[in-house]
Amino acid sequence: MAYFLITDSITTALLILLVVTFIYYLYRARKNNIFHRLGVPGPERIPVLGEMFHVIRKHMTMHDTDLVRQYGKVVGIYEGTAPALLVTDLDLVRNVLIKDSHVFINRRGMEGIGGPLEHSLIALKDEEWKNARSIVSPTFSSAKLKAMYTLMGEVGDTYRDRLLEYADKQELFNINELNGQHALDSISSCLFGIETNSLKNENATLIKHLKKFFTVDFKNIFLYIFLISPRLARYLGKKGYSIFPSDTINYVSNIVNHVISQRRQHLERRNDFIQMMIDHEEAVKVEEAMTEQTKTKDPQQQWGTLKKTLNDKEIFSQGLLFLTAGFETTSALLSFFCYFMTIEPVVQEKVYEEIQQELGNDEITYEKLNRLQYLEMAINETLRMYPPFIRLNRVASYDYQLGDYHVPKGSSVNVPVYQIHHDPEYWPEPEKFIPERFSPAEKVKRHPMTFLPFGDGPRNCIGMRFALLEAKLAIAKALRDVELQKCEKTEVPLQLGKMNTLKAKNGVWVRAVRRSE
Ligand code: HEM
Repeated sequence: MAYFLITDSITTALLILLVVTFIYYLYRARKNNIFHRLGVPGPERIPVLGEMFHVIRKHMTMHDTDLVRQYGKVVGIYEGTAPALLVTDLDLVRNVLIKDSHVFINRRGMEGIGGPLEHSLIALKDEEWKNARSIVSPTFSSAKLKAMYTLMGEVGDTYRDRLLEYADKQELFNINELNGQHALDSISSCLFGIETNSLKNENATLIKHLKKFFTVDFKNIFLYIFLISPRLARYLGKKGYSIFPSDTINYVSNIVNHVISQRRQHLERRNDFIQMMIDHEEAVKVEEAMTEQTKTKDPQQQWGTLKKTLNDKEIFSQGLLFLTAGFETTSALLSFFCYFMTIEPVVQEKVYEEIQQELGNDEITYEKLNRLQYLEMAINETLRMYPPFIRLNRVASYDYQLGDYHVPKGSSVNVPVYQIHHDPEYWPEPEKFIPERFSPAEKVKRHPMTFLPFGDGPRNCIGMRFALLEAKLAIAKALRDVELQKCEKTEVPLQLGKMNTLKAKNGVWVRAVRRSE
């Protein structure tokens, strides 16, 4: 009896000690706010969760707007336990993204979240990133995009045909799903070298696996760990844990390795990313052999220490990143665009008239597509209203003076893109959809940092031109034959999901009507 009483009181004492220690930790963490010491305005620090606490309650877009309204153009916040500056002063934004980009070349570490993405652009840092980016960048040149145009067009045709099917069946539908299938097919075909055909068969095993890459949401415990404690995420990442399911990684990597091996043996050729990496590898081998021969004659010609090609693992990693970075973003862009077409029928009519005027019923060639200026303006206005990525992020590699504030080495700087895109100081009546804001005459009047849907500087979105081409082509093909209409299920205004990537929470429901011949 006495024994149990003693152990009970020890347990109680330990519990009390634990609770007191935890409360003391919370108190210390709240007081220990680096921004108070640096004189940066900002909200009280919330221990452990930091800004996540508010982001879960409202939405990151609204939270950023509130922060800027309350504290000004440079605000000190905590992302979980990591301090970060939220910057909306446009000249300072330009310094971070472009002018002093050598200081801000990296993003917040993706260790842990990386897994199969560990060799991809999103995870690489410093020289390794620069090296990989220079190898991969030519994939997105005008000439290479032109070479992919036919593959993209085939997916665009299927997209239009599916819309016509809905029109003929007079069925209301969530166009978000169709746009997701379109984005998946387009990127898989043009960049990854595999035909998913999800627009035709959405239940295939490969598609089910690929979808798992995109269902990383707030239910995922690892994402919380990453947001709250990057240090712990890094540790778990090194131990082999990943945000991505291992069965999916194995399934997809087997398919891609098979594609790579076919290409190396010259059993198949396609104008896609994998082919470009293999062609590049072969060109480098030839060049290296030639350099070897002339080595003694001209030592200046030798390769430096930089890597010139990607190995199979790295090709897979980059391809997978293209798929994950390009899927949700491009499908969100298409869905938001469709939404605006339904609630702004006058704009849709103008887009249609331009398509008729410039293309008639002719084949939509790469050159002709570039003539659709009004369509481009409407796409830009969609990206202003709903930029798929709400915030940009950079990390200072050295101590840095940002205007009046000192940024210690290792700190994050965030640029709240959505907030800037909705600031009435730069965009009068920001909640109105007005494509004319993007006419050449209006564009030159604005600070270049007022429009950042693809980021800016050397670390901007590498797939920007690919995404815009893909969206423009799909829209031109679709709207030439189909009119999109608002229906009783269309949600106005749209409710947005709470994730960092903007998307319509309940989808975009529309009616498609076949245009008369
Ligand atoms: C509408 C579609 C898209 C939007 C709005 C978008 C937006 C962005 C943004 C905002 C960033 C960060 C830029 C920065 O930090 O300055 C980014 C990075 C990136 N995007 Fe996109 N993206 C889109 C489509 C794509 C596509 C289709 C691909 C691939 C084909 C892609 C591949 C990437 C990659 C690889 C990065 C990381 C680049 C690096 O760190 O070097 N994106 N994207």
